[in-house]
Amino acid sequence: MTRVFQLLTPAVLLAAVSLAAVPLATPSAALAQGSLNVYCSVQAEWCQAVANEFQRQTGTRVALTLKGSGETLAQVTAEAANPKGDVWFGGTGDPHLAAAEQNLTVAYKSPNLDKLHDWARRQAEQSGFKTVGIYAGALGFGYNPELLQKKKLAAPTCWKDLIKADYKDEIQIANPNSSGTAYTAVATIVQIFGEDDAFRYLRQLHRNVNQYTRSGVGPIKAVARGETSVSISFMHDVVTEALAGFPVKVQAPCEGTGYEVGSLSVIKGSRNLEGAKKFVDWALTAPAQKLGADSKQFQVPSNREAQLPREAPRFADIKLISYDFAKYGASAERKRLLERWEREVNSQPK
Ligand code: G6P
Repeated sequence: MTRVFQLLTPAVLLAAVSLAAVPLATPSAALAQGSLNVYCSVQAEWCQAVANEFQRQTGTRVALTLKGSGETLAQVTAEAANPKGDVWFGGTGDPHLAAAEQNLTVAYKSPNLDKLHDWARRQAEQSGFKTVGIYAGALGFGYNPELLQKKKLAAPTCWKDLIKADYKDEIQIANPNSSGTAYTAVATIVQIFGEDDAFRYLRQLHRNVNQYTRSGVGPIKAVARGETSVSISFMHDVVTEALAGFPVKVQAPCEGTGYEVGSLSVIKGSRNLEGAKKFVDWALTAPAQKLGADSKQFQVPSNREAQLPREAPRFADIKLISYDFAKYGASAERKRLLERWEREVNSQPK
């Protein structure tokens, strides 16, 4: 049986899709080589490249499910009694830490851990080795200068700018329940302004938000298409759209900003634990991490020998807060903040 798969379009990325990466000869051949169900929370191009290359090198059949970070946590939670996934590749670190705390993922100390930057190893240590950092990325804004000029609006430079009345209905951010990008934004705003002021800020921002998208990259893709002027996005996702030729610019917020440690976890109950561990070892190598930049994804790779893509936003140029991963990656805190956001922000009239 041969299956042919088309390249994924951004529209497909927004949907939760399952697909096998490479055609199979027969089901029994698949059994002989082993297979791996990879839940993938980075952009589709990178997921596909990872699946193809791991399959090519090892003969292991890789099936991909593409979903945002919050959505994948919900899926892994729902499947806990009958797990279907083997590894969870990418997506923001907070939900990986929450999964670790809830014993939805298993500890694995890859021999490649000592090849990683401190921030990536810290993610592993903090979770009892149930997850590990594979990349980092800083949060910021994307905007469409052509659209802003047409509307006679200034480009935003600070978090405080985004709540000005001028930006009514001009801003997009994802929904923090489904999207790790948006959860990182909520946790960042709480850490910068203090919780009560942060929720006051988020209610004011609500008036300027025209849509809460499901996926974290939805807003910057809308900015690129000229559908909205401003997005709250990971800065590297803005760079991807700019390099694709869209009229978008990137901005690091003046007050400082949070960041993600994109992570990788082995799912508890994996039916191919050996294959899952092999996948982790491979994903931590420099050549595997280069597949990110090859797919036009410009995060900072966690392997110290992996080259920082030339196009990647430089952390040294960005005012980063000391993001409290232990606190905001704890499942009770995550649940509490999301419930408060639902109650005090999302359900409010504009
Ligand atoms: C994009 C970014 C990743 C990030 C991911 C989170 O793919 O490039 O760096 O981890 O979004 O996705 P989510 O939909 O959960 O916000």
